[in-house]
Amino acid sequence: MSPSSLKNRRVILAVTGGVAVYKAAELVRRFKSEGADVTVVMTGASQRFVSPLTFESLSGNKVHTDVFSEPMAHINLPASADILVIAPATANMIGKLAAGVADDMVSLVFLAFDGPVVFAPAMNWRMYAHPAVRRNIRTLRSMGLHEVEPEEGELACGEHGVGRMAGIGRIIEAAKGCLRGKDLSGLNVLVTAGPTREYIDPVRFISNRSSGKMGYALASAALRRGADVTLISGPVGIDPPPGAKVVRVERSEEMLDAVERHIEGADILVMAAAVADFIPDEYSAVKMQKQDSLVLRLRPAPDIVKAVSGSRKRPRLVVGFSAETGPEIAKARRKLDEKGMDFVVFNDVTAEGAGFDSDTNKISIIDREGITDYPLMSKDACADVVFDRCLELSKPGTRAAENC
Ligand SMILES: Cc1cc2nc3c(=O)[nH]c(=O)nc-3n(C[C@H](O)[C@H](O)[C@H](O)COP(=O)(O)O)c2cc1C
Repeated sequence: MSPSSLKNRRVILAVTGGVAVYKAAELVRRFKSEGADVTVVMTGASQRFVSPLTFESLSGNKVHTDVFSEPMAHINLPASADILVIAPATANMIGKLAAGVADDMVSLVFLAFDGPVVFAPAMNWRMYAHPAVRRNIRTLRSMGLHEVEPEEGELACGEHGVGRMAGIGRIIEAAKGCLRGKDLSGLNVLVTAGPTREYIDPVRFISNRSSGKMGYALASAALRRGADVTLISGPVGIDPPPGAKVVRVERSEEMLDAVERHIEGADILVMAAAVADFIPDEYSAVKMQKQDSLVLRLRPAPDIVKAVSGSRKRPRLVVGFSAETGPEIAKARRKLDEKGMDFVVFNDVTAEGAGFDSDTNKISIIDREGITDYPLMSKDACADVVFDRCLELSKPGTRAAENC
């Protein structure tokens, strides 16, 4: 496992002009308290919100604002930096970066930097949802930039929606995650994500509330850490991480089939999909008509983890997720042996901040050595914890390593 520390790391914090600029001051303080050396670069608009003096005082370093008064700063700064963090990232700057425009200190530093880049959009919810902004964010993500998605809540304009800059903790975690290096390189990782749909007739199905966010965060983390990733996804409303091979399925039987087709050569299987436990026993090929009452008979859905972990093609590591409504750790512990997994990631979906559509999760990792509880973290950070554990279990002498 490579350390993900910010200690002695050189961070360029690029600040662009939105109301959330004031939060960037706290971000500098947090980076400093983690041991990082922070240099701030600012756009002209951002200086209308907070003076460079604030950032200079907090970072202890000169703040760079004007390309022409320091002709080589936009080349020299990035040359010695470990990471570029753009927070807050305005709609304007996101558009400029996506288009390769280079007319100020931030956009020039971006183009002259070839290391990891994290950006935290902050804007009105309608701006964030605008197709032009969505397209520009997709472009940045496809270039390998890591977006720390904004949160839902009360916005500075008084409206409510998704657009509030991610919390400082999430931005710090994302930066740490990006500095881990490629410790999964050479590994094939197969991730399942999202819900399944079990059809009753052509227009109706039984499904669940899984958003796919945890599975997609796992796929992104594995890609960022250098793995080859195949993502088998049920129907979700989020974009897959660029670089993953995506296989889309709907029914649990299709998911089993897709896992069996892609398992060959996989080193790690992480089953984060919320696969149905039951499927309708009968399927009506025509839409069922309204009636006074209807009794549906259900039969068990295929148990994908069990099928795979007992098979000849079993990957070196098989990891399952167990979502329960309550602290049902014992149930999750039983699954470990019943399904032949290396470890189970348990989460109580009723716990605060750990729900289905949430960007955060509170997990416990259960393996044969015991239980490790983690605090409430972003799903990105949870994903890194899962792969850290995979790497620990792959060390020579461990049970999973002996499965090789
Ligand atoms: C009071 C005020 C608040 C603003 N807040 C935001 C914001 O939160 N997000 C955003 O994308 N733009 C916001 N803008 C618009 C940007 O400041 C504007 O697009 C500017 O050109 C951004 O420049 P920059 O990207 O070079 O910093 C705001 C403008 C004003 C006047």
